[in-house]
Amino acid sequence: MSSTPDLFSLPDDDAQQRRAQELRRLLQYHAHRYYVLDAPEIPDAEYDRLFRELQAIEAAHPDWVTPDSPTQRVGGKALEQFASVRHAVPMLSIRTETDTESSGALNFDARVRKELGLTESDPPVEYVAELKFDGLAMNLRYVDGVLVQAATRGDGESGEDVTQNIRTISQIPLRLPAHAPPVLEVRGEVYMRRDDFETLNETQRQRIAAGAKGEKTFVNPRNAAAGAVRQLDPAIAAQRPLSFFAYGVGELTPSEQGGPAWSTHFELLRTLKDWGFPVAQQMRVLRGANELGAYHQEIAATRDQLPYDIDGVVYKVNELALQRQLGFVTREPRWAVAHKFPAQEQLTTVQAIEVQVGRTGKLTPVAKLAPVFVGGVTVTNATLHNELEARRKDVRVGDTVIVRRAGDVIPEVVGVLPEKRIPGAQPFTMPTHCPVCGSAALREEGEADHRCSGGLFCSAQRKQSILHFAQRRAVEVEGLGDKLVDQLVDSGVVNTLPDLYRLGFVHLASMERMAEKSAKNILDALEKSKETTLPRFLFGLGIRHVGESTAKALARHFGQLDRIMQASEEQLSQVADVGPVVAHSIRTFFDQPHNVEVVEQLRACGVHWPEGEPSEVALQPLAGKTFVITGTLPTLSRDQAKDLLEAAGAKVAGSVSKKTHYVVAGSEAGSKLDKALELGVQVLDEAALRQLLDAG
Ligand code: IVH
Repeated sequence: MSSTPDLFSLPDDDAQQRRAQELRRLLQYHAHRYYVLDAPEIPDAEYDRLFRELQAIEAAHPDWVTPDSPTQRVGGKALEQFASVRHAVPMLSIRTETDTESSGALNFDARVRKELGLTESDPPVEYVAELKFDGLAMNLRYVDGVLVQAATRGDGESGEDVTQNIRTISQIPLRLPAHAPPVLEVRGEVYMRRDDFETLNETQRQRIAAGAKGEKTFVNPRNAAAGAVRQLDPAIAAQRPLSFFAYGVGELTPSEQGGPAWSTHFELLRTLKDWGFPVAQQMRVLRGANELGAYHQEIAATRDQLPYDIDGVVYKVNELALQRQLGFVTREPRWAVAHKFPAQEQLTTVQAIEVQVGRTGKLTPVAKLAPVFVGGVTVTNATLHNELEARRKDVRVGDTVIVRRAGDVIPEVVGVLPEKRIPGAQPFTMPTHCPVCGSAALREEGEADHRCSGGLFCSAQRKQSILHFAQRRAVEVEGLGDKLVDQLVDSGVVNTLPDLYRLGFVHLASMERMAEKSAKNILDALEKSKETTLPRFLFGLGIRHVGESTAKALARHFGQLDRIMQASEEQLSQVADVGPVVAHSIRTFFDQPHNVEVVEQLRACGVHWPEGEPSEVALQPLAGKTFVITGTLPTLSRDQAKDLLEAAGAKVAGSVSKKTHYVVAGSEAGSKLDKALELGVQVLDEAALRQLLDAG
């Protein structure tokens, strides 16, 4: 099914009419996939785009509008299995402002002011701004204070009775306080938190792996929430963690005393909150367009820190009397608007799957994408991490995929649209040999990653090692980028790190696209890089598991490179944050003669740093020893004991294991003491502890 208009055809009436029909068919199809089958194929943003395209055509030709056009109703039809519920008060949709700048807020405020006949000299209109939750709308009907029915929005006129499933949401009160009105419908959004979604998908993956039939993973929290709400078996629904936020009311019969006497939307929400409904704390009373725009910006900047997905904010006129005065246009209130954020998911196609070789030989499949603007940037690559992950997602060349980019997170392929797959597309397989050097690609038992076994024979690994060494956070060779490194390595001029410092002007100037001036700059940068620090140098060597902070800790602890190179695994393990795996990796690195050679040659070329004395920690008597404190000591508080131990270089842990060296026990020591005795760990009382501390 093609979803893009043919840009080259003349926009004559015939063609437009055909396009409108095509759009109705597409929208109907996707609405069914989304609402009825809970299996959407396209991201919401794509659906919205098709919807708006149809709206635009129909707006230009109102006589073409058909009664069954998706623009004439709000959602999909009720599932046959659930009883249909006619809403006492229709569940409306809200107009959407899609421009992502603050003009969305300006437009809305201007329309409201115009409708209310306000002039510039009138004071600003008061609004309530709320989050636009990305879940599904729900109507909760309370009669005499008891939850009697929960219904989905459906087409806005009637929805589905999902009471059984909604009752399982513990955040939703089953009973209201005694003074609640005789009939009250609370409206809000049922959604799934992101962490709950991850857990659910993990469980689903395990079920699938265990051979369970008919199970699937979900593409996003909204899809998972919709699936849970429409789950026919309430026992299964109960295992799917749903949450709820209230944002309004439907039918309301006032009590005999005439209450509740809300005059603003804010009061209404506050009362709902008092009655036990979750109301998002970001809800705020604001005045005028500028405050709305600022709210939009503020929430957009922090949306990724929320534990759930939102796709925009909603502004509502606060005074209920003004809301009544403003009324509705067709199915949308004039007093509310949804102001969206840029979409975080988009569709694109996979043009190729490349396998990249990292500094440590790790082979990473990367999907090369047709450029797509998503989450505020143009994305052309998405990592598929490793073979398992690529297989799990079953991404193939030519596939149409959903790409997601949220915040600063690396873009990822969320899923594939299987119905758009080109016949004959082959599943991805990891090459058996390194695509760069041809050495065998191996995967170690229990590891997810394949690695090129070529080591420094592999030019890709060499290039990456050089780039790693030259990066700003390591020794920093300004101007030494990947293009130049490619040329230097490919031409055989540079093979090892010390070769960099043997480069002459002639070498550099002979490289393609290298002006004399740039060659000179690189030489200057190399010269400058010779003066560095021990942590930068250590980090730059690219020892596996030695990141910047570990390099700093090692430098602080040992003071001098030679001490590190000679340290045993046990001595290395005494450094804070260095565990056995890291210690082993460092030892293995310096056990390789060619690595020692590289270090020596770099020093011979003039790379240097100030060396220091080993830090006191290394000289501390209890360095490398792990203690657990339990019970009440006669004179020392636990914190005091901990401070004394740490000052002597010991680690203080919370639980006893085979790795614990001593347990310090006071009175009323419980299970930790038992454990110590069971494992044969030496137990000390306060006096023995003091002796040990003094002995150092
Ligand atoms: S108010 C008459 N407030 O957005 C106004 N809707 O088309 C009715 N939504 O599907 C809606 N967050 O489920 C409102 N704070 C919020 C909302 C919200 C999400 C959803 C709602 C509906 C759609 C509006």
